[in-house]
Amino acid sequence: LARGVTEPDLVGRHVVVSAGGTREPLDPVRFLGNRSSGKQGYALARTAAARGARVTLVAANSTLPAPAGVDVVPVGTAVELREAVLRAAPEADAVVMAAAVADFRPAAYASGKIKKKDGQEPEPVTLVRNPDILAEISADRARPGQVIVGFAAETDDVLANGRAKLKRKGCDLLVVNEVGERKTFGSEENEAVVLGADGSETAVAHGPKEALAETVWDLVAERLG
Ligand code: CTP
Ligand code: CA
Repeated sequence: LARGVTEPDLVGRHVVVSAGGTREPLDPVRFLGNRSSGKQGYALARTAAARGARVTLVAANSTLPAPAGVDVVPVGTAVELREAVLRAAPEADAVVMAAAVADFRPAAYASGKIKKKDGQEPEPVTLVRNPDILAEISADRARPGQVIVGFAAETDDVLANGRAKLKRKGCDLLVVNEVGERKTFGSEENEAVVLGADGSETAVAHGPKEALAETVWDLVAERLG
């Protein structure tokens, strides 16, 4: 069958997809966040369900409607996202990390709202590293034969950066997007190259996020055998 054609090839499979962007709180009213809309992750969840998979969607701060038949686990921070993914991963045939996970979080959380003080400069915000969820689940596979997919938004030498990242993360597939003005964030469309740990490169032409999602599931299904 041609790529991009929906067929029930994921019946009996369980997939976990993360989507959206994590928010790292500074105080009860403020956070550090990112521009991820969640659309690519939701498209992955929808298309996997259409191909017959049982889908767990770990959704970070997305306001998109829950896709029919998909089990949505809402999370806020990177630490919460990690817990939800690790909880679901042991039963998953595939895990796709489409979420934009904050690399850093504020070292301290102020339980009361941070206030200005007359004549005083603000305190600097100290950040600490968040856990790397994709690297962790790739290193400690919860299930033999599990297929793990990451996403990367890159600039400059996009393919070289993508190849290096695929190696560093230890995942099976890495979907590499080129970012720039008008590209990717909040958009309905996407364009990417999917790099495989086996050396494969699959170009996905500019088009709807569903089309990229279908190609990701084609490549996952091939690897599940
Ligand atoms: N990711 C993750 N945990 C993190 C950061 C990223 O699981 N703490 C996942 C993302 O969900 C994505 C992939 O790793 O699937 C690549 O994210 P990216 O931000 O491109 O990778 P980083 O290693 O954080 O590299 P960079 O320094 O370029 O941001
Ligand atoms: Ca990052």
